Amino acid sequence: MAFDFRYATESDIEQIVAIEEEAMSNPWNAVAYQEAISSDHAFIIVAEDSGTIAGFAVFYLTAPESELPDIVVSEEYRGHGIGKKLLAHSIEELKSKGIDIIFLEVRVSNTPARHLYTSLGFEEIGRRKYFYSNPVEDAICMRLDIEKDR
Ligand SMILES: CC(C)(COP(=O)(O)OP(=O)(O)OC[C@H]1O[C@@H](n2cnc3c(N)ncnc32)[C@H](O)[C@@H]1OP(=O)(O)O)[C@@H](O)C(=O)NCCC(=O)NCCS
Repeated sequence: MAFDFRYATESDIEQIVAIEEEAMSNPWNAVAYQEAISSDHAFIIVAEDSGTIAGFAVFYLTAPESELPDIVVSEEYRGHGIGKKLLAHSIEELKSKGIDIIFLEVRVSNTPARHLYTSLGFEEIGRRKYFYSNPVEDAICMRLDIEKDR
């Protein structure tokens, strides 16, 4: 599999929504992705395999800080390092935009995502009680200091 990592465009939204709906209990809708694509303070990076979107990551930017609110790899592509490559590529993009910190939240039970984040140097900085719904669950808050860790 040869992947391209590039910025999402409007024509990717349908595939992104399908991947999100398959993975998430409270999925984002097409309008949310449309807004992220057209905003000066957000971007979406996709991993593409010959026209098929294998995964995507959304970032909000408030320089020099950023937030990763949504990252998903399509079920059939998981466990092959795509999430890690997608996030590593995104970190380089953020760095080139003058961003030096990424914040995120993750469900306590989300072992694959927690492994992904710690494998790239994210550190736990706190917990939020009952942060998630459907089902209700605590969040782990994590942070990556890009300049320090790269
Ligand atoms: C989290 C997610 C994006 C990971 O994508 P992926 O392409 O499968 O991840 P990778 O193959 O790149 O693996 C990244 C790291 O996590 C580890 N990992 C991946 N899946 C794992 C699992 N099920 N259990 C334990 N570790 C796992 C890998 O071993 C790797 O660590 P390493 O580099 O130290 O070996 C994917 O599981 C997903 O889309 N989940 C549903 C959506 C979601 O939960 N998003 C995050 C919301 S906070």
